[in-house]
Amino acid sequence: MQTPDYEALAAQAEALIRGVPHRTANLANLSALLWQTLEEINWAGFYLAEGEDLLVLGPFQGKPACIEIPFGRGVCGTAAAQDATQLVPDVHAFPGHIACDGASRSEIVVPLHGGGRVVGVLDIDSPIPARFSEADRIGLETLVRRVEGLLFPDN
Ligand code: SME
Repeated sequence: MQTPDYEALAAQAEALIRGVPHRTANLANLSALLWQTLEEINWAGFYLAEGEDLLVLGPFQGKPACIEIPFGRGVCGTAAAQDATQLVPDVHAFPGHIACDGASRSEIVVPLHGGGRVVGVLDIDSPIPARFSEADRIGLETLVRRVEGLLFPDN
């Protein structure tokens, strides 16, 4: 499997949402873009922070997923609490992993920022063990940096 051209994907993502003042629509379109572009994935979407310490399911592609994830729980909650990307080659080895789709074997979660805080996460799951590489991490972080200011303009 080839690593996608993340620079091009980030540019496409930005073009899709620039000038569109509707966050839900933008997150929905971004999850669709990732779903259509990335190979060997079974879930792609967003969780958004509500208050100080809760993530709530946002727009996504894939099977229905768990609705609430407290900061600090599972892969998504850990990424949000630590403000750090989680690259998980084997979800079964991750303490507290929350299995939304039993087919998931590996996962990557990238925090989203707004107003200097974590305001959500991008979550992508794969049925393939160790599907995500360092190149995917760097590429997806680049994409998120490119769109987060448009999605969450400073309050
Ligand atoms: N596996 C995630 C939960 C979200 S689903 O993968 C869509 C976690 O452990 O946080």
